Amino acid sequence: MKIISSYSIKGGVGKTALSVNLAYALREAGERTLLLDLDPQGAASFYFRLESAKKFKMRDSQSMAEGLRKNIRESDFPGLDLIPSNLEYRRLDILLDGMAKRKKQLRNVLEEFKSDYDVILMDCPPNITLLSENVFRASDMILVPVIPTVLSQRTLEQLTGFFRDEELSAKTLRPFFSMVQKRSKMHREIMADLPASHPGFLKTAIPFSADVEKMGLRRMPLLAYAPTCEAARAYRALCDEILAPSGSRP
Ligand SMILES: Nc1ncnc2c1ncn2[C@@H]1O[C@H](COP(=O)(O)OP(=O)(O)O)[C@@H](O)[C@H]1O
Ligand SMILES: [Mg+2]
Repeated sequence: MKIISSYSIKGGVGKTALSVNLAYALREAGERTLLLDLDPQGAASFYFRLESAKKFKMRDSQSMAEGLRKNIRESDFPGLDLIPSNLEYRRLDILLDGMAKRKKQLRNVLEEFKSDYDVILMDCPPNITLLSENVFRASDMILVPVIPTVLSQRTLEQLTGFFRDEELSAKTLRPFFSMVQKRSKMHREIMADLPASHPGFLKTAIPFSADVEKMGLRRMPLLAYAPTCEAARAYRALCDEILAPSGSRP
């Protein structure tokens, strides 16, 4: 089982759009996929029309695993399950803080699902919290959308700096360009320079596209309603890139 997360310190960069479409592409590629919506805003759950989850109380890693398992829902697409967002997650930081090995608990909890899924994909909230640290330590691969702008570039540097300071494995960090506008000179310039300083940079870039924005109206992955549009093809290419044996390591 592979654990992949969609993460950035920054909001509004395309984490959820990636999670939803990558989950769909993984399932198309025959991977039994579980999407865990860790963001209390619940946008990924909304796109899959699975908004509410059963209440559960988390006291320790066992009740956390039980609560998550009870909340697994089938999506409309066979082979793709979802654990919708839950307000209880707001307590995760406090709960994790009180545990032994407080930075590694999430990995242990997710190991529970090893025999049921090939991939667990986590859609993460922005910010760096104890939950994010758990996500970093749980993930085999951390996909980081980077809009080719100065501020996005800066948050990527902050993230790589954090990994250095905390002695986390930078190999797991896989940035990629998101919401790319080919006509923008600044986008082109940043795209030409930035990957050289990040060995794990993925080759696939996701274009800015009105088709992606329509997910809010269609409430399903772009790959389900516009499977051949440019952005859908890009998400599929990104999926192929990370599934390729050489793609899993920089
Ligand atoms: N490739 C894209 N092209 C155009 N709009 C996009 C693209 N990716 C995401 N968006 C839009 O940008 C907004 C933020 O995207 P989202 O995936 O929710 O970001 P995050 O999860 O990082 O906060 C949403 O309204 C979404 O529809
Ligand atoms: Mg999001």
